[in-house]
Amino acid sequence: METEIKPDRKLKIGLDKIDNVRKFYIESYGCQMNFADSEIVSSIVSSEGYTSTKNFEEADLILLNTCSIREKAETTVRNRLKDFSKLKTINKNLKVGVLGCMAERLKNKFLDQEKIVDLVVGPDAYRDIPNLLEDINDGKSAVNVILSKEETYGDISPVRLSSNGVTAFVSITRGCDNMCTFCVVPFTRGRERSRDPKSILKEIQELVDKNYKEVTLLGQNVDSYLWYGGGLKKDYKKISALRKKTAVNFAKLLKLIAQTFPKIRIRFSTSNPQDMNLEVIKTMSIHPNICKHIHLPVQSGSDKILKSMNRKHSRLEYLELIKKIKELMPDCAISHDMITGFPNESDDDHKLTLDLMEQVKYEFGYMFKYSERPGTLAYKKHEDNVPEQIKKSRLQEIVDLQQKHSLYRTYSYLGKTVRVLIEKESKKSKAQWSGRNEQNMVVVFDKKNFKVGDFVDVHITDCTSATLIGDAII
Ligand code: SAH
Ligand code: F3S
Repeated sequence: METEIKPDRKLKIGLDKIDNVRKFYIESYGCQMNFADSEIVSSIVSSEGYTSTKNFEEADLILLNTCSIREKAETTVRNRLKDFSKLKTINKNLKVGVLGCMAERLKNKFLDQEKIVDLVVGPDAYRDIPNLLEDINDGKSAVNVILSKEETYGDISPVRLSSNGVTAFVSITRGCDNMCTFCVVPFTRGRERSRDPKSILKEIQELVDKNYKEVTLLGQNVDSYLWYGGGLKKDYKKISALRKKTAVNFAKLLKLIAQTFPKIRIRFSTSNPQDMNLEVIKTMSIHPNICKHIHLPVQSGSDKILKSMNRKHSRLEYLELIKKIKELMPDCAISHDMITGFPNESDDDHKLTLDLMEQVKYEFGYMFKYSERPGTLAYKKHEDNVPEQIKKSRLQEIVDLQQKHSLYRTYSYLGKTVRVLIEKESKKSKAQWSGRNEQNMVVVFDKKNFKVGDFVDVHITDCTSATLIGDAII
């Protein structure tokens, strides 16, 4: 029997490198987690001998890290693939890969639907990219969408893409067990698992060594972080009392990071109200380097809709949580995500959402029209029955109300002094810096002699609904 002898992969890549250094280009869509994942993918692809480029026209490998959260996000990716398909007619060697949530949702179907795609990799399969690259460079297509119970990429040092050198994302959990009925994430990112605190501290230490000043801890649901030696969150119940004693929850992790790195600013996202507890709020209030901002999506102000969304808290419990937060941290900013036009949302439900917003007066928020996602429980159980026109007008109403509240909040800073970490040049003026205060509000001010990475006290003199404007105090 004849056996095909495959050339050694390392040798092959080595030869390719001598002929011509291969370049890869990566583009990310969707949530912060996707942007963080692209940094992990870049690290893996770079170790295969590819160098990164910011110009897709000169790339040999184009990777799109995709989002499935709403239909519009998927349409954007499909349109982008059309741009690349033109490029493929010019450069016959160009390979195109799709990563992330759309890859996981559509799997092999992607190869049939989008003929230009060579590679499909789900969020838990990035370690397999070297093997998959080998396949596509041999002229085959390659797919790996296996979801994992363990994968956290804890030992991979991310390549900080288009970084400002000051702020960075650090993933602490992957997946989500919450099963909100509208949400595709549990299907595309799998079950919830937490990352070893040691590897989190190591990654932050590396950032500190490179002079970074702020980290944002990322997870679909950070407050449910739980390290007990590895494994799924859902299996925690089964472990021994002794192991439970040494488990690290989110409050403990926050404390550990805040104490180990007293000069680093700490942010985190996202908090699900049902998992945020007093221990976390107290930890935030005690440590000055934990930023006083909580992204606390609520999705709706109506108990009927919250129940139908499988959100595990009531409107009253949510408001009580905010009361506790404000008792311990009166200056803590709260932001939200809201969905309008969920199935069976009536005018009265919508009014309850407006009323909730009026009570909280959020600093800012992200607002969306409900988009039905195939496979979710809402898709299976409910008709998408709120007419598009009504979804649109309700969305406009909540956006307008949010803008009013944002202005109310920024206005309250006039005459006050806030501490700002300078991140970059202001988009509007080369003479000004842009940074954020603890509450995650953008602050712009004249550059003077300050530089990116400096912490500065800024006296606020003016504002819009989205920005504080002031003078840096020398
Ligand atoms: N826990 C996650 C939530 C991810 S989705 C996090 O880390 O942010 C982000 C937001 O998208 C959700 O809070 C919700 O407001 C919105 N969203 C999710 N699925 C949606 C859908 N099917 N239609 C409209 N908006 C949706
Ligand atoms: Fe989605 Fe709800 Fe998890 S919004 S990511 S299922 S907390």
